[in-house]
Amino acid sequence: MTFDRAVKIAPSILAADFAQLGAEIRAAEGAGADWMHLDVMDGHFVPNLSFGPAVCAALRPHIRTVMDVHLMIAPVDPLITAFADAGADVLTAHVEAGPHPHRTLQAIRGAGMRAGLALNPGTPAAAAEPLLELCDLVLVMTVNPGFGGQSFLDQTAKIAALRGMIGDRPIHLEVDGGIGPETAPKAAQAGADVLVAGSAVFGGDPDDYAARIGAIRAAAEGTWT
Ligand code: DX5
Ligand code: ZN
Repeated sequence: MTFDRAVKIAPSILAADFAQLGAEIRAAEGAGADWMHLDVMDGHFVPNLSFGPAVCAALRPHIRTVMDVHLMIAPVDPLITAFADAGADVLTAHVEAGPHPHRTLQAIRGAGMRAGLALNPGTPAAAAEPLLELCDLVLVMTVNPGFGGQSFLDQTAKIAALRGMIGDRPIHLEVDGGIGPETAPKAAQAGADVLVAGSAVFGGDPDDYAARIGAIRAAAEGTWT
């Protein structure tokens, strides 16, 4: 996994057909997805359940790009090894998930993965600052986590503040929630380079995925009309 700041579209399989996730991943990657985003929910940190490390492991052989796992679970630390074994490239935990985020990020890197730190919409950018040296990615939630299809919350000032804190460091800045062609430009202009999109990509005819991913990318790159 190499580092660059080009716009990357990361479809979230939360909005895909769960009865055929392998085919959905192949369709999204064939349609131009740069990363695949996997949302893990525990019914405790967020009020919804999705899937865990066994499903991630089963999907690993179907992912040819980057396996980007977003943990919405607490506690995180007891399951880090399970997600490393499942083959995650990036493992992101929420700063709100526990009192010892330095330990969590160290453990994620120690298990051989890139470490991500997610911030809920109500958490200020400053919460990430003392942790940046242990981060390979910062994820700004633009909805309260737990469900796909929610309305975008404007976090432009936070994204821009984090982009400034990151500076030249090789740390991705990812946004997640309510991202589509209408909202992607705000996030990208503020400095995000990884754009997660669930309901704006999946659903309906897989033949449409290329157009949907292309529209988000073009909007983010400022060429969408
Ligand atoms: C929300 C998840 C998101 C979600 C995004 O808790 O972290 O990744 O799938 O879905 P949309 O793009 O529909 O808002
Ligand atoms: Zn997510």
